[in-house]
Amino acid sequence: MNIIRRRGWEMPESLATPEHLFFNRRALLGAAAGAAAAGLVPGHAFAQRLTDQPDPSMDLYPGKRNEKYTLDRPVTDEKINGNYNNFYEFNSSKQVAKQAQALKIRPWTIKIDGMVEKPFEIGIDDLVRKFPIEERLYRHRCVEAWSMAVPWSGFPMAKLVELAKPLSSATYVRMETFLDKSIAPGQKQSWFPWPYVEGLTVKEATNELTFLATGAYGKPIAKQHGAPIRLAVPWKYGFKHIKSIVRVSFTDKQPRSYWQDLQDSEYGFWANVNPEVPHPRWSQANEELIGLGERRPTLLFNGYGEFVADLYKGMEKERLWA
Ligand code: MTE
Repeated sequence: MNIIRRRGWEMPESLATPEHLFFNRRALLGAAAGAAAAGLVPGHAFAQRLTDQPDPSMDLYPGKRNEKYTLDRPVTDEKINGNYNNFYEFNSSKQVAKQAQALKIRPWTIKIDGMVEKPFEIGIDDLVRKFPIEERLYRHRCVEAWSMAVPWSGFPMAKLVELAKPLSSATYVRMETFLDKSIAPGQKQSWFPWPYVEGLTVKEATNELTFLATGAYGKPIAKQHGAPIRLAVPWKYGFKHIKSIVRVSFTDKQPRSYWQDLQDSEYGFWANVNPEVPHPRWSQANEELIGLGERRPTLLFNGYGEFVADLYKGMEKERLWA
């Protein structure tokens, strides 16, 4: 695709997360929150928040912490994380939290189809009560060279794959985000290849690390993080972590993702984190820890190699690093 406008992901590394701008933007956002409290928010957004209350899955959180997955840094402050997001369906800035409140998360149905024994649909409240909810602390490394540390709650994607009963010939899983221009203004922008799509191999999807997050910070997941269900694959760049999933399809063809459609030369299918392979326009050698004002060297597979490196043995000729 011929990119004619400069957008967020086209920034050079030096501009990816300039701290002074970040904190200025937070100040602006604080002012916006004040305006909301004073009743200046659009009526429909406010009404939406009212109809969504209380979340029917509230009692499931916080899930029991799975101590196997540990962090080498503090958990990112919830407010900072919740006000610095990528959710292009709403807008392509990081200040998307307010607009994302228009997302209607009940009823929410997920369609399971493609190469499965029998396609079916399942409501989010049935799905979240099928498996025990656990909490995992994961690092999250965005391709834009920033990172967070997040306490997700949810269940392993392997459980969903088991429920879906894919045929043994199915080798990939394709996932899709909602499509609704009436609530998501970004989806009116026709140069983006909506809906957002991401994919994994079935082997990746059933790896123990691959997690479907339905909660974060000890409660149901916030809309700006991809409510009511989003993917967390911490050894891959953040764009693989598809939000607000409505469809999971099994296939024997490698799915083309949203980012591949948008900029194939820069964003590949595998998108595994590797500090030694620069993005075509910036280095991936280190990352800014959002909220801590600190840069650190990035780790191969974002530090999760012990769990996933074996998945890629013998695939050295493939474009494994986005
Ligand atoms: N999923 C959808 N549907 N739309 C998006 O724009 N952005 C991706 C990913 N999933 C995105 C998405 C990117 S680039 C990142 S870094 C993470 O979501 C950000 O997740 P967070 O906002 O919870 O930090």
